Amino acid sequence: MNAAITATAKYLPDGILSNLDLERMLDTNDEWIRTRTGISERRILRDPEKATSYICGEVARQLLEKRGMTADELDLIIVATMTPDMLFPSTACLVQDIIGARNAWAFDLNAACSGFLFALNTASRFIESGAHKKVMVIGADKMSSVIDYTDRSTAILFGDGGGGVILEPAAEEGYGILDARMYSDGTNGKDHLLMKGGGSRHPATHKTVDERLHYIYQDGRMVFKSAVTSMANVAVEIMERNGLTAENVSWLVPHQANQRIISATAERMGISSEKFISNVGRYGNTTAGTIPICLAELDEENKLHPGSNLVLCSFGAGYTWGGMYVKWQ
Ligand code: COA
Repeated sequence: MNAAITATAKYLPDGILSNLDLERMLDTNDEWIRTRTGISERRILRDPEKATSYICGEVARQLLEKRGMTADELDLIIVATMTPDMLFPSTACLVQDIIGARNAWAFDLNAACSGFLFALNTASRFIESGAHKKVMVIGADKMSSVIDYTDRSTAILFGDGGGGVILEPAAEEGYGILDARMYSDGTNGKDHLLMKGGGSRHPATHKTVDERLHYIYQDGRMVFKSAVTSMANVAVEIMERNGLTAENVSWLVPHQANQRIISATAERMGISSEKFISNVGRYGNTTAGTIPICLAELDEENKLHPGSNLVLCSFGAGYTWGGMYVKWQ
């Protein structure tokens, strides 16, 4: 049986970092940011005591409530993140503790901006195989913890937030996650979008801090080119493999990195602006959070109906990218 999404939820912190705020901090301006990226503001988790697990915990509690289930019923929790609270234990184990999911096993998955799709694809296999009945998949990042707010090329792009879903066996055949294509290209991706410090290659030292190695580094132009091509290619591939057309796609749910990447993907698919969701203007790039946040917003606005055809697609560090076809249950 296919895996179907049976609940959605999102959490965005209240703190707002606007383009005008950034103008005061950096040599940049609102017009430049909006025309290059489509972003006007982002959310920031300002409380230093709160980390990614806090975002996940808020999402997890809502998911259980919306689905009307107890934490004990969960078989598995997967958290997609590149900003875990700590290198170990996994943030998924912290979420298990927060909600008291005593019967679940839990692990993190890191595929940067493609993390949620990679996790959703992984989780769906446990349902399809019959191994599990109830899986929680969360994508969340506290990007403000790895952003250098003196670097105008990256500080403008990212925000904090997360979202998640519950996956269960579909009630009827032909619904749920019907297809997925996932890709990685470490050869071309490994040098253009990365955080050098904090891992086993450059463990934290005074030197790594002085050299600012614990922040994101990105060659924006290189990443942009690959993102546009790869996200559009995989979205079109999903359409072709599943007989989807511009007419019968109900929603394109793209990773929210940059409005120009989203629009280019929609254009290649031949779909019009009322068929894709874009909230990058309000939240910036929340990395593993963007796609589940979009799903939760569509769900809250009653824009998802039984039989709605969704194409999900993402691109991120690695490089990693992927596409998925979901027929909404
Ligand atoms: N404000 C003002 N000027 C800025 C700026 C900012 N925040 N950031 C960079 N610039 C300047 C650059 O210094 C450069 O000046 P120069 O020509 O004098 O050297 C100029 O603007 C153009 O920079 P460039 O990097 O070519 O801009 P761009 O059009 O490629 O846009 C990004 C930059 C980051 C918005 C764009 O490359 C992008 O979106 N890349 C993909 C990022 C992404 O989505 N990453 C996550 C993937 S999941």
